Amino acid sequence: MRLGPSLFRMTLLSAAAMVLAPAPATAQAMLQPPPKAMPANPTVDQTDWWKRGIIYEVYPRSFADSNNDGIGDIQGITRHLDYIQSLGADAIWMTPMFPSPQADFGYDVADYDNVDPQFGTVADVDQLVAQGKARGVKLLLDFVVNHTSDQHPWFQQSKSSRTNPYRDYYVWRDPKPDGSPPNNWASIFGGSAWTLDPTTRQYYYHFFYPQQPDLNWRNPKVEKAMFDAAEWWLKRGVYGYRLDAVDTMFERPDLKDNKVYPGVDAFGVPNQDHVNNSKQPEVHTELQRLRQMVIDKYPGRILVGETWTSDAQELVQYYGPRNNELQLPMFLNLISLPALTAPDLRQRITGVETNSVGGWPSFALSNHDSRRVASRYPVPAGASTDDWAKITGALLLTLRGTPVLYYGEELGMVNNDPQRIEDVQDVIGKKGWPKEKGRDGERTPMQWDASVNAGFNAGAKPWLPVSADYATRNVAAERADPKSVLNFYRTLIAERRGNPALAGEMTMVDRANPNVLSYVRSGGGRKVLTVLNFGGAASDLTLAQLGGGKFGRVIVQNRATMSSTGIHLAPLGVLVVEIG
Ligand code: NOJ
Ligand code: CA
Repeated sequence: MRLGPSLFRMTLLSAAAMVLAPAPATAQAMLQPPPKAMPANPTVDQTDWWKRGIIYEVYPRSFADSNNDGIGDIQGITRHLDYIQSLGADAIWMTPMFPSPQADFGYDVADYDNVDPQFGTVADVDQLVAQGKARGVKLLLDFVVNHTSDQHPWFQQSKSSRTNPYRDYYVWRDPKPDGSPPNNWASIFGGSAWTLDPTTRQYYYHFFYPQQPDLNWRNPKVEKAMFDAAEWWLKRGVYGYRLDAVDTMFERPDLKDNKVYPGVDAFGVPNQDHVNNSKQPEVHTELQRLRQMVIDKYPGRILVGETWTSDAQELVQYYGPRNNELQLPMFLNLISLPALTAPDLRQRITGVETNSVGGWPSFALSNHDSRRVASRYPVPAGASTDDWAKITGALLLTLRGTPVLYYGEELGMVNNDPQRIEDVQDVIGKKGWPKEKGRDGERTPMQWDASVNAGFNAGAKPWLPVSADYATRNVAAERADPKSVLNFYRTLIAERRGNPALAGEMTMVDRANPNVLSYVRSGGGRKVLTVLNFGGAASDLTLAQLGGGKFGRVIVQNRATMSSTGIHLAPLGVLVVEIG
């Protein structure tokens, strides 16, 4: 893998990815009202609960601030459970809320068995679990497996002397004879991946910040301690984990240098691949042990993977040889694409369909590390970021596989990037400015209503500024607008849960079309056709070209008009329709 600056943001976090019945004419006449209650998907049984609706990613710092200190918290999430339920989420994935110095906003964990006071208490998590249970919304936590905080007691012990019993919890090596780091490995967050500890005169290894020392998973005591931590929360009713940065859990023991390429990364470090310190074969054996020794002891519990892969062939390895590894290795590849085009999407999605045999796919288009999808790509003349939100939402929510939706994606929230380095919170943005502005822009407060701070809190300055569009782009306003992005998403999520076609097979149609991506989902004797115009110009398609049949009920449409025999789609036009 080689990280060029433009791809840095999208790939840095993995360390590894590189590399129609006769139609009434208008859209509004045909729109379904937003669903009131979420139907259960009839085709999916209880143990496979994670195939039904969606997983909703919540970044606790930014979702809702219940005590008005400017930082979102767990009670804030609990207060909005009705909303999350009404969206049709089966589970929340809550990013780290463990005690942490917040060097990487929680991805530097100082105690796996506790909660950072700024987010609340363990009792607050218990309450979120209980209140979620009452609404059919399960809780998944984020398990940061590769590294701890440098403030974790294990690391404090480890660095205290070369003979401390915790020394081997981390990766320590002698300097080279000239005092330089043991090899050329670069941290993905800037600079060398090695930091010298002056007391014990050895270097410790960190793929991310120096405040995030890598755990040594070759030490059985580390495995035991981490497995115990995972189990601690499962016993409290948590339903599983999104596993952070799995690919960096192991390094080549001989510490072979990485190959260096021309040019420098956003931090001025020569580009290099990371083949010797990521994606080692031991990652898979270790994840399989976690599944077998911890997760499978608790019925229905799941592992979701932060699995950045270059293609589906690579992705399939994370299911394990007997589906004994991760239930949901996320296919994050679509997040990293510089443009969304029909042929490219067709090929990548077909790859997942073909390769994940026996496994169930999972897709995401936005997350807390990547520019929000509604504002990621240029907007064609006459269209808006809302149209991007709708076409990408239609894609994500009609694919076969569990969608992981990032908070605010359902509102069409856009990036709100810092304009000055002084305003940046995310350290990679401070270090990499202006080439790398960090991830603040996609982490701004959730927009609930038109009141102060978009209803995020009662008026204290939020840790990141609320996006300027909040007065109109918010949950309350969008709920009331039948044409809103929110109602578009809600309609599709409800359809996914209730229509067996959207739990069934997937077939690409009109496969040579260079602009429009079309596919049919079928199951339970029903069929749903999705047609998405990713081209820069309007497109006309005949029903015959899309596989024939008759148009039935329109599920959603945007920038699309229909006749009895065909469809006209403006750029970013969308139609999702039952086929009779
Ligand atoms: C991936 C997380 O999503 C990201 O936010 C974090 O900075 C890195 N892993 C390091 O934990
Ligand atoms: Ca708070």
